[in-house]
Amino acid sequence: MKKHNFSAGPCILPQEVMKKASEAIINFNGLDLSLIEISHRSKDIVDVMENAKSLALELLGLEGKGYQALFLQGGASTQFLTVAYNLLNKKAAYLNTGTWSDKAIKEAKLFGEIVEVASSKDSNFNYIPKNYNIPGDADYFHCTSNNTIFGTSMKSFPSTNVPLICDMSSDIFSRVLDFSKFDLIYAGAQKNMGPAGTTLVIVKEDILGKVERAIPSMLDYKTHISKDSMFNTPPVFAIYVSMLTLEWLKNLGGIEAIEEVNQKKAGLLYSEIDINPLFKGFANIEDRSNMNATFNLVNDELKETFDEMWKEAGISGLNGHRSVGGYRASMYNALPLESVEVLVDVMSDLERKA
Ligand SMILES: Cc1ncc(COP(=O)(O)O)c(C=O)c1O
Repeated sequence: MKKHNFSAGPCILPQEVMKKASEAIINFNGLDLSLIEISHRSKDIVDVMENAKSLALELLGLEGKGYQALFLQGGASTQFLTVAYNLLNKKAAYLNTGTWSDKAIKEAKLFGEIVEVASSKDSNFNYIPKNYNIPGDADYFHCTSNNTIFGTSMKSFPSTNVPLICDMSSDIFSRVLDFSKFDLIYAGAQKNMGPAGTTLVIVKEDILGKVERAIPSMLDYKTHISKDSMFNTPPVFAIYVSMLTLEWLKNLGGIEAIEEVNQKKAGLLYSEIDINPLFKGFANIEDRSNMNATFNLVNDELKETFDEMWKEAGISGLNGHRSVGGYRASMYNALPLESVEVLVDVMSDLERKA
């Protein structure tokens, strides 16, 4: 039997997607060739790219609104610098909500002045700062919608007249948002989309072309727009699996439908964390993420017993990140409700035993 996979990423993907992807590795589209042994210029692969891009825009409700979808390489980490390379003239504003924001800030500092509008570092990033001012003369404002390591999530986004840029690596396609508020969204594939190896970038074309510096071709969004994400050889397998996952999501009923399931899963786990006296949540209640739930044992002496119990129940990937400790249950789109039920049963069994 498959494990109950709570890994933070790479992570669980829909089983039917895995099956189709493994078939395409042997024989893609009945061509008697593998998906990964044909030219990226062949019609079948060009169709995959086009389909993946239009599904991404369709699911986010951004079709025909001046946005381009790109499938790039180098992970979300390369976007930390690419965003600044393409958009930062003098000054940009950043909200620091954890490790990934911190890394984005570090890269952006290579290109201009960075105003950190607020930070939750004082409390090991267990909350989302709320009241801050974004300078009106900033080239853009950057934030991280979901903080994978700390288990916090931004429930609302500031209204600002400067371009809004968001790292949505760990919650894209998981909840309904007004995506048209954002001017650029990026996300590594390896949570809600596919295997590691490609990064989705959604960019509003009219924010580009405003910096004075020369931009190397591979880091210039305009290059990839003009070449339909085929300027160089794209990671076809990662893009194909992303396409299948986006099709899967569309067939389920899109983001609205999956959000309902995600709320059920997170609601079930957080209510156990709150009623079970052996556990305490790490993140501030109002900022809790539906994707990554972080929690600790009140009494560390129970660690060995608890770890044995969840492993015995077929659960995998529950250990917390080293900067928070304790446990992190990642409940991405493809994780079935049943897996959360198994975890909650183990937690209440521990209470009965202790
Ligand atoms: C929110 C967030 N941003 C950025 C990254 C870095 O992504 P990558 O490993 O694709 O560079 C991660 C990785 O987990 C993440 O969770």
